Formats: sequence, C-alpha cells, structure tokens
Amino acid sequence: MRTKELRILVYEYSAVEDLPKADQNLILSAREASGKAYAPYSRFRVGAAIRLANDEIIVGNNQENAASPIGLCAERVALFFANATHPETSVKAIAVTASGESGLVEQPVKPCGSCRQALLEAEVRFRQPIRIILEGKQKIQVFEGVESLLPFAFKPESLG
Ligand code: THU
Repeated sequence: MRTKELRILVYEYSAVEDLPKADQNLILSAREASGKAYAPYSRFRVGAAIRLANDEIIVGNNQENAASPIGLCAERVALFFANATHPETSVKAIAVTASGESGLVEQPVKPCGSCRQALLEAEVRFRQPIRIILEGKQKIQVFEGVESLLPFAFKPESLG
C-alpha cells in the first residue's frame, strides 16, 4: 500500500485590481456576459470569458431551458463556441463569474464536473494548460490548469 498526497495550488486575490491586467479584462468580459445569460429558472446568471492564444476573447453565459437538463453552463457555451470558430487556436485562460438575485456570489463560482471535463479536453487537444480565474465577492481564485480542479481525470489515454 502506498499513500500519495496531491498538492493543488490556488492563488487567491482579494480584489480584481490585484490581478494581472489580462485577467482583469477577462473578468470584465465574463461579467458583461453574465448580464446576458438566459437563466429564468435558476435566476443564477453565469458568465464565462475565454482568452485564446491570439488574445481574442470569446464569451458565453448559461442557457437554460424549461426542460432543465438540456440547458448548458456558461463555461461550455464559451468553450464550444471558441472551439467551433477557432479550431486551431488554443485556449489560454477562462474567467468565470456569477450573480444570484442578490448580486455577485460571495465565494468564487466553481465550474461543474462536466465543464471541468470539457475544459480538460481543450487542454489535451491544444497541449496547453488553461488558466482558470473564478470570481466571487470575497475573493478571486486562480488555478494554473484544469487538473487542479479535476485530479485523476478521465483522459484520452484512459481509453487504452
Ligand atoms: N451554471 C453555470 O453556467 N456554470 C457553473 O459553473 C455552475 C452552474 C449554471 C447552470 C444553471 O443554468 C445555473 O447555473 C444553476 O445551476
């Protein structure tokens, strides 16, 4: 029997202004996108902004449906649109923010498991770690790659 301990780095900032300028801009784009979310059922408006390798920014927001399971999270709306329109361009970073009925969430919003898996695919596809920036009122968290949020992930090599 062997015991392994994982080390996950998370960088925490107390204000958006403390982040590098590129991250600040990405958060602003995510905020703007969250305002355009279609979330009449949860009233939880999520915005995501992706920075591509060419520094182009692609945004997405959650798209809900009366038949709830078919709705899609902001992260995947942004990622799939980025990949659909720029299939050769790697994803450098994603910023995510969310507002409930009382405004910006207190704690940094966390991508769901499916979005983590989708983001991991983009890392594998483009061989480029994705910087993940998660905004909350109390703090902003930054992770240097999807594996920090999804250890022991299912990857192409898992297919055997
Ligand atoms: N949602 C996102 O868009 N991204 C997340 O990271 C968490 C959840 C959406 C899905 C649904 O429209 C609403 O938030 C409530 O779960």
